[in-house]
Amino acid sequence: MQIIDNIRDLRCTLEPFVTGTKKIGFVPTMGALHAGHISLIENSIKYCEITVASIYVNPTQFNDKNDLKNYPRNLESDCKMLENAGCNIVFTPLDAEMYPTPDNRVFDFGSMANVMEGKHRPGHFNGVGQIVTKLFDAVKPDFAFFGQKDFQQLAIIRKLVKDFNYPLEIIACPIIREIDGLAMSSRNMLLGTDERDAAPLIYKTIKTAKELASSEELNAIVNYVHDSINISPYLKVEYFEVVNSETLMPVTKITGLEPLTACIAVFSGKIRLIDNIDFIS
Ligand code: PAJ
Repeated sequence: MQIIDNIRDLRCTLEPFVTGTKKIGFVPTMGALHAGHISLIENSIKYCEITVASIYVNPTQFNDKNDLKNYPRNLESDCKMLENAGCNIVFTPLDAEMYPTPDNRVFDFGSMANVMEGKHRPGHFNGVGQIVTKLFDAVKPDFAFFGQKDFQQLAIIRKLVKDFNYPLEIIACPIIREIDGLAMSSRNMLLGTDERDAAPLIYKTIKTAKELASSEELNAIVNYVHDSINISPYLKVEYFEVVNSETLMPVTKITGLEPLTACIAVFSGKIRLIDNIDFIS
C-alpha cells in the first residue's frame, strides 16, 4: 500500500489508470478507523481494481472547536488496518495541502441541508461539500463509497454529484454495528464506561419504534423514543425525525405511501451519536 500526502504525487500515481479500463474506487474517511470504514474498503475492492482511501480530519465541517480538537487520530494503526484490508493507496494530506488558501465556497444543497444534522450543526454540510469536492477532484474516482450511517450526508453527496456532473457513481453501504447494536463510530471510543453501556439503547429504541410504525400514530412514536432514551441518565435525545427517504423532508404522518427513514442524534455526555433506521421501504 502506498501512503501519499500530496495531490501532485497522488495524480502522478493515479494518472495511468485514468485512460485505462481499471476502475478507481474511493473511500473518504476522517480516520480512527473501525469495521464500518473497512466494510467500505471491502466493497470498493469488490467493484474496483484500485482502491484509494483518504484520511483527513476536515476542520471546515466541525461546528464545534472541542469536537475537532478531541476527534481521535490514529494514523499509524489506521494505515495498518487499510493495508490488511487490501487498500492500494491511502491519501493523508495535511491542512496546508487541502486548504492552501481559505475556502470561501458556499454550497446550496437546498432544503435537505436545513433539517436534522444541517439544522443542529450549522455549516457542517458546507464543510463536507468543500472537502468532498476537493477530494473527488484529487482522486477522480469511478466509484465512491459512503456509509448509510451518515444518511443525510449520503443524500447530500448524491445531490452534489448530480449538481456538479461528477462522472462517478456513489455506492451506499449498510451500517455496521457492534454486537450490542450500537452503530460503529470513531466517536464511540471517546465514550466513558457508563455512556458506552447506555449507548445500545439508541438502536434498541429505534428498532422498537419501527415495529410501532404500522400501528401507532407518529406523535406517540416520537414520544416513546424520547422517553425510552432520556430515561437513561447518560443519554439525551437531540432530535428524532421521521423523514422521506429521498427528499429528507420530515413527515407528520405515516401514510405508508412514501419510503421513510427515522434518524436520531443523541448526546451521551459531550459525545454526539447519530443513527438511523429504514422505517418504511
Ligand atoms: P467518517 O465519519 O470517518 O466516515 C467515513 C465514511 O465511513 C462515511 O461514508 C461514513 O458514513 C462511513 N461510516 C462510518 N461509520 C460507519 C458504520 N458504522 N457503518 C458503515 N459506514 C460507516 O463521514 C466522514 O468521515 C466525513 O464527513 C467525510 C465524508 C470523510 C468528509 O470529511
